[in-house]
Amino acid sequence: MNIIEVKSYDKMSEKACALILDQLKESDKSVLGLATGSTPEGMYQRLIEQFNAGNVSFKNATTFNLDEYVGLAADDPNSYKYYMNDKLFNHIDLPAERAFVPRGDAANLEQECRDYEKRIAEAGYVDLQVLGLGLNGHIGFNEPGTPLNSRTHVVDLDESTRHANSRFFATMDDVPSQALTMGIGTIMESRQIVMLVSGEKKAEAVRQLVNGKVTSEMPASVLQNHENVTLIGDTEALSKL
Ligand code: F6R
Repeated sequence: MNIIEVKSYDKMSEKACALILDQLKESDKSVLGLATGSTPEGMYQRLIEQFNAGNVSFKNATTFNLDEYVGLAADDPNSYKYYMNDKLFNHIDLPAERAFVPRGDAANLEQECRDYEKRIAEAGYVDLQVLGLGLNGHIGFNEPGTPLNSRTHVVDLDESTRHANSRFFATMDDVPSQALTMGIGTIMESRQIVMLVSGEKKAEAVRQLVNGKVTSEMPASVLQNHENVTLIGDTEALSKL
């Protein structure tokens, strides 16, 4: 695993943005895997700046997001589709029909999971997958105990994850209890993985990710088995290594 230590959240975002630009330089038809949450917001901001400066185009790219809450439609401000539109898609030239987010409001969720896998395969699989890290070691919404070979599936969210994400919702009751997520096996098929971590509260999870044993109880530990992972973290997040 390639570990890059940076001084601040801003530097982490800058470095992550640079890796995405490198990927798009290699092929403007790249398939990018994207995450939501607080961690990648600065990276998206920088990508928009680079787009506005004329340094990058997304018009031939394809993106697949990791996950979506069950029951939330694209126009719900708490849905991950809404987040992506707001933080990135509305500000760049990525064609809407190639910006994929699992449909949390699909009538048949199992079918949506199968279709999502099919779309990823048809696009030629993910070239560069961006990940954030859950406090309990989740990647995407693959909670502890998820089989390491899992595909896109419906998950019951851990209470700790619902609690961590409740900051975005009016009340705890509004936080969905289920989500759709790419599986760990799906994520591991990406050619390159870029894991972003920031802040002291992630330090213990980072320690287990890098130095712990590979176990489904700590989903992110599986990244030790991937041959092209770059972990970009600020000093606080890497403080237990
Ligand atoms: C989001 C996702 C999650 C987050 C993780 C960290 O699409 O897949 O795994 O990356 O929960 O969230 P933040 O960045 O808010 O700490």
